[in-house]
Amino acid sequence: MTGIQYPAPVQRIKPEDILDRAIWPSSAVRNGAGALEIGGVDCRDLVAQYQSPVYLFDEIDARSRAEGFREAYERAGATTVYYAAKAFLATAVAKWVTEAGLGIDVASGGELEVVLRAGVPGHRILLHGNNKSIAEIELALAAGVGRIVVDSLDEIVRLADAAGHFGIVQQVLVRVTVGVEAHTHEFIATAHEDQKFGLSVASGDAAEAVRRIAKLPTLSFAGLHSHLGSQIFDASGFNEAATRVASFARSLRDEQGVSVRELNLGGGMGIAYVDGDDPLDAADMARQICSVVRTECESVGVATPELAFEPGRAIIGPAGVTIYEVGTVKPIELDDGLVRTYISVDGGMSDNIRTALYGAQYSVVLASRISMVEPMLARVVGKHCESGDIVVRDTWLPADVVPGDLLAVAATGAYCRSMSSNYNYLPRPAVIAARGGATSVVLRRETTEDLLSLDPGA
Ligand code: LLP
Repeated sequence: MTGIQYPAPVQRIKPEDILDRAIWPSSAVRNGAGALEIGGVDCRDLVAQYQSPVYLFDEIDARSRAEGFREAYERAGATTVYYAAKAFLATAVAKWVTEAGLGIDVASGGELEVVLRAGVPGHRILLHGNNKSIAEIELALAAGVGRIVVDSLDEIVRLADAAGHFGIVQQVLVRVTVGVEAHTHEFIATAHEDQKFGLSVASGDAAEAVRRIAKLPTLSFAGLHSHLGSQIFDASGFNEAATRVASFARSLRDEQGVSVRELNLGGGMGIAYVDGDDPLDAADMARQICSVVRTECESVGVATPELAFEPGRAIIGPAGVTIYEVGTVKPIELDDGLVRTYISVDGGMSDNIRTALYGAQYSVVLASRISMVEPMLARVVGKHCESGDIVVRDTWLPADVVPGDLLAVAATGAYCRSMSSNYNYLPRPAVIAARGGATSVVLRRETTEDLLSLDPGA
């Protein structure tokens, strides 16, 4: 119980109150039968067709968030918005975001393959990675990716040699660490260089990388990249980073005669998972960051670079939900007399590791019907052999939840399917897009046969 703040029980669950617009996909409603409907699709019909658990995306919501981000950032003066594919990737999603005018940032050869299969042209792709393999570098060069982000001194010559083999001059950004780390609404501007990404400005490694790149005829230094963290609620961390990058840009000009033409400030824009989460909206965030970059560049006397950003979670996270079926309901009496009811669902830490890994919080509702029964203190848990297999740690659900009911967990579009596993040999759920009452398969459900096919002895 220590440290956990429970929301006060409400008298009656009023369906219109529990689908908080800031948390659920924009088309989420209770239909006439009281069931949750997204993209015009009743979650009961969805499960009947695709089984549970199932990830469900509101396609229009995802597309309009992508478009909204691009517009907001362009209006604020940015040149390119890339979608960070790590949040969730399938060819359908790559098409949604490129049709919305975004580029795509990939962090592995696998992500790059998906994006290429979706038909995204190379020049709209940016490749990241702190340990890119030669095969990944070659795949990227063959595809003509627009930008490669250099993350270490070691990879510079590797990259230059490979570009030489392809007979091209590759545009590169240098990923810098500026001593600012931001998560949620806090940022820390001290000594966060003790991590694997990027090249430190303070140590001189970043300047050394630029010096080496400038000497290599097959690489062209386009500018700098700085990513602060994830689930950031305001612009203060970005502003601090912009200040530091601007002064580094001046030192590059003064000491090496090199200009920073582009500045990519990464992703990390936060979303609401539970009541009380209050991230800055895209337009305000964009305006604040872009104007600080301009001011800081002017104040140190360097030209403002072209600006790029890489949101992932903020585009795809709120557009997705996970639907589970309840299998068991087990009330447990706690020491202090309270009863916590463990509701076991048919998935868990294999389809959403974020609760176990980060202590993430989620909103959950009874999705297959409305109940007017008093709420009970509940914990939604999975079916894995681990007591930490928790989907929603603390919530209130109607006291009459029974096996066979469907639950929906909100804002699972980012970093759930993309971080999923086959723990306990569970096949991964299907990913379905709903739009105008129709469904389409984004990724089909895995079968046990899929998993067995990897085992030559099976
Ligand atoms: N750009 C770079 C270089 C990144 O490393 C990331 C995320 C992004 C962009 C996109 O960040 P977003 O806008 O999605 O926050 N698994 C964690 C999040 C890890 C983020 C890793 N990098 C989670 O589930 O919260």
